[in-house]
This record gives sequence, C-alpha cells and structure tokens, in this order.
Amino acid sequence: MAKVKVGCIGIGFMGKMHFGCYKKHSKAQIVAIADVDDAKLSGDWSKMGGNIEDGGAKKVNLSGIKTYKDANDLIADPDVELVDITLPTFLHAQYAIEALKAGKHVLVEKPVAISIAEADKVAEAAKRAKGRFMVAQCIRFWPEYEYLAQIIKGRKYGRVKSAIFKRRSTAPTWGWQNWLMNSKRSGGAILDLHIHDTDYINYVFKAPKKVESAGVTGPSGGIDHIVTNYDYGKNMVVSAEGGWTFHGVYPFEMAYTVVFDKATVEFSTSHSPTVTVYTSGGKVETPKIESGDGYHREIDYFLNCILKKVRPKTVTPKDARNAVYLVKAEERSARDHRNVAISL
Ligand SMILES: NC(=O)c1ccc[n+]([C@@H]2O[C@H](COP(=O)([O-])OP(=O)(O)OC[C@H]3O[C@@H](n4cnc5c(N)ncnc54)[C@H](O)[C@@H]3O)[C@@H](O)[C@H]2O)c1
Repeated sequence: MAKVKVGCIGIGFMGKMHFGCYKKHSKAQIVAIADVDDAKLSGDWSKMGGNIEDGGAKKVNLSGIKTYKDANDLIADPDVELVDITLPTFLHAQYAIEALKAGKHVLVEKPVAISIAEADKVAEAAKRAKGRFMVAQCIRFWPEYEYLAQIIKGRKYGRVKSAIFKRRSTAPTWGWQNWLMNSKRSGGAILDLHIHDTDYINYVFKAPKKVESAGVTGPSGGIDHIVTNYDYGKNMVVSAEGGWTFHGVYPFEMAYTVVFDKATVEFSTSHSPTVTVYTSGGKVETPKIESGDGYHREIDYFLNCILKKVRPKTVTPKDARNAVYLVKAEERSARDHRNVAISL
C-alpha cells in the first residue's frame, strides 16, 4: 500500500498528538521529526502538557526516524513528502511557506498564522504550490460537530433558531518558553482556543453580517475570555463563549446547545453520552456519533487527499484565513465596544 512519508516539526502537546495519529495510520510513515529541544529528539517526551489526554508514551523509540534540530533541514530532506507543522503559532506562516515552496504537502495547526497579513501570505503560497495544503481546523472533523453540521445541512429538525457554543479552559502554561501566555506569540485565548468555534460557525452558517464581542484581558496580555454575538439577522441567534481564565482544576469543556424548529440538541464533553436530543414531541434521544476524535479524522482526510491527488475541500486556505480575520474582528469589537461589520 502506498504510504505518505511524513516529517513532523514541533514535538509539543499537538506534535505528539499528530505523531501518534500518523504512527497508527496504515497510509503514513514518519521518516523525520524536528524540534529545537534535544530531549524531544532523544525520545524523552515526558515533559509534555496539554488539555486533552493523548494516551501517548513518555519515552518514544525513534529508531528509523531522522531527527533534526533545525526545521529547515527537515523541509529540505528529499525523503519527506508531507511536512506536519505543530509549532507555536507565531512560527506557522514562516515554516508553512518554506515547506510549500520546497514542493511539500503541508498540514499546519490552527490558527494558520498570527495575523491576517501572514494568513494571506500562506493562502497565496498554497495557491501557487505543487503540494496539497490544509490547516488543522480539527473541529470541522470532530464527530459531535460533524453530526451537528449534518443535521443543520439536512434540516433534520428544521431550521436553527439559536446556537450557543462554549470552549472553556484553565490557562495553558505547558508551552515551549511559555509562548501561549504571550499574546504576541499566541494571539491570546481568542486566537488559540475560541477560533475553533469562530471557524465552525463560519463553516456551518457562513459569514455573519457583524460581530459584537465583550472580552477581558487575561494572563497572556491579550483577550483571554470572550463572548461574541454573530449577527445573522432577526431569525437566528448565534453566540460563542471561549476563554482560558478558568481557575484551578476547572475541567476543559467544549459544548454547544442548538435549538431547531423541532428539537434542541445539546453536546458537552462533560456529559456522557456527549450528545442528547430533546424533541418537541417529548422524546429524549442519544444519536449515534462516529468514534474517534478530530485529530485522527483530519489527518486521515488529508492523507487521503494526498493519495487521491485532490485538493482538500473541508478546510480551504481561504477558510483558515477567514477564521483569523473573524477572530481579529471580534478582538476589535471587544476592545472598542462596538459592532464590527464583516466583509469576507
Ligand atoms: N487543534 C487543537 O486542538 C490544538 C490544541 C493545542 C494546540 N494546538 C496548536 O498547536 C500548535 C502547537 O501548540 P502546542 O501546545 O503543541 O505547543 P508546545 O509548546 O507544547 O509545542 C511546541 C513545540 O515546538 C518546538 N519548537 C519551538 N520552536 C521551534 C523551532 N523553531 N523549530 C523546531 N521546533 C520548535 C518546542 O520545543 C515544542 O516542542 C499551536 O499552533 C496551537 O495553537 C492545537
């Protein structure tokens, strides 16, 4: 069976997650990794953080895998076909563009870039590139969110009247050089965390006319807790709350409550089963949700796009750029206490 030869850059929380996905995948072979941290290159992955349990090993056998301290050497390696970038956000654009110019396929973590200007440059490079390109907007592939997208599109319960999304976390302090707690490097919780819901809302409902946000500055120095109303006119209410200002051992939670004409659908990672449907007829149902998570599913999708030689449609470079644009509009709205019109 044809296998895509993968090089992973940045072996932190998400790098380890992606590494584990490729390792398990029958259509991928990891041929190289790159990280500035010698411990990661030696296979000592014991000092890793994260807010989602990855079940990965602490000591990893890297025999047969080339290790690079300089990510540019991995990009230049002719054995590497797919460059997977899970670097801190402020480094995404630089390395994604380098890898695209080198003719590689590129999967880069969300957000595609720290600014709209850099996101535009990546989208431009992706347009001209020989290789396939995708941004890992994993929520588009997350089973509970795929389920919601399907019932919205298929109008299973009629039209949406209101949709409320939530993403709550304590502050992520595990990052390399504590980059997440520096909004100049991470963009703050709005660009790092809340962007998942912003992107999903744009995916299922298209762009809102305006955004109106309230937000507070947090430990990153940027806006680390936000509540946004997305304006879709008089007939639908859409809002999202996201932040990492929660205290102590507050559990990470992603959730939604969507009211349709004929049912209310509720999801939370704190519930078991995670999705419940309350129908207008009084029934309480638990729909069948696909197994797995968004990380495995997005990587499976991207590998198949490469092998089938098709451009990924589920997340386009423009989609990823627009997610950054929308978050920046929310940031302006929160800072200036006003509506911000959206023009995508
Ligand atoms: N999709 C999701 O649910 C999700 C969750 C967490 C993080 N992320 C994203 O993944 C990316 C990485 O986040 P993280 O939490 O894994 O960060 P992290 O700090 O845990 O890992 C970053 C890694 O990059 C390495 N690194 C730093 N500079 C480097 C360089 N120049 N060359 C090579 N290696 C370098 C560090 O040593 C570290 O191992 C971010 O963009 C973040 O937004 C996505």
